[in-house]
Amino acid sequence: MTQTVEATDVSLAVDLAGLKLDNPMMTASGTCGYAYEYQDFVDLHQFGAFVTKSISVEARKGNEAYRIVETRGGMMNAIGLANVGLEAFCKDKMPQLIQMRQQGPRIIVNVAGHCTDDYVTAAGRISQAPHVDGIELNVSCPNVGDGLTFGTDPKLLKQVVREVRNSMRKDCKLIVKLSPNVGDITLTAGAAVDGGTDILSMINTYTALAIDINKRRPRIANGTGGLSGPAIRPLAVYLTSRVYREVAKDAGVPIIGMGGIQYWQDAVEFLLAGATALAVGTALFVDPASPVNIMQGLKTFLANQGITDITDIIGTLKMPNDPDY
Ligand SMILES: Cc1cc2nc3c(=O)[nH]c(=O)nc-3n(C[C@H](O)[C@H](O)[C@H](O)COP(=O)(O)O)c2cc1C
Repeated sequence: MTQTVEATDVSLAVDLAGLKLDNPMMTASGTCGYAYEYQDFVDLHQFGAFVTKSISVEARKGNEAYRIVETRGGMMNAIGLANVGLEAFCKDKMPQLIQMRQQGPRIIVNVAGHCTDDYVTAAGRISQAPHVDGIELNVSCPNVGDGLTFGTDPKLLKQVVREVRNSMRKDCKLIVKLSPNVGDITLTAGAAVDGGTDILSMINTYTALAIDINKRRPRIANGTGGLSGPAIRPLAVYLTSRVYREVAKDAGVPIIGMGGIQYWQDAVEFLLAGATALAVGTALFVDPASPVNIMQGLKTFLANQGITDITDIIGTLKMPNDPDY
């Protein structure tokens, strides 16, 4: 007789290179502020981890409005890394994060820069706080030196990852967030791994253009913006699967998957493709509680499959050329 599994018996706990999370759900950087901006809408303490918006060494006002527009199946943004800067972040925002951590979620701070020193300064300083569990590098930024985007140039990426890793508290995890705006993402994923990242997160937004047809001008003041939301999900799942199979699995580097996750079925796709944890961004604008609903859906799905441990399905996708397809 087969044993029935109840949803309450299912464990959603995951291990990200030694960083243990009660469940795989995270906020995607830039979509949930510094900590408690969403507290009136959802109990953030239920999430496995909280990821802050990008922090840079200097405070930044960001781009002019419009910075966000809705598109069919997604949204585009060109916020321009608006943030309070390193000093104010450490003084004013960190205490809220520490308070949040005491109640459950692990804390990951996203860092952005325009030269290697920027990344090293911000990541090195923030990682010294014992309550910060991880630093996520937003490498979708141009280098002031040569204009090359860190996340699209494997040589530059490996170098910045290595220097940042050396500057950080040893037990603080380094996460490199991959850009999808490359010809072959396995090259940048490999460079991040060679540079010493503990974890990969993927993907950031796709560079895109939306046009106001009456004005014959871009709808976003910046011109182009980053596309996110359901429109990019199958692309993100594909890239997650490729990076898992061709780089991350053998290297033993876990993946945080994101890009259009809105419902529990989307989360299952990313897990099967090889993601260990899952971040939700654009869907929070529709329903801030979507990660909580996703967790419930995951538990029911796994229970119906007779599975008690979420980690049993990670990377179990079968592709046509696999020997056991
Ligand atoms: C409004 C907005 C702001 C964002 N800001 C950042 C940011 O500051 N740093 C970063 O690394 N990614 C940022 N992102 C990218 C998201 O973290 C995520 O990688 C992307 O949106 C894909 O996930 P989604 O489809 O669930 O939104 C931002 C996305 C949006 C929609």
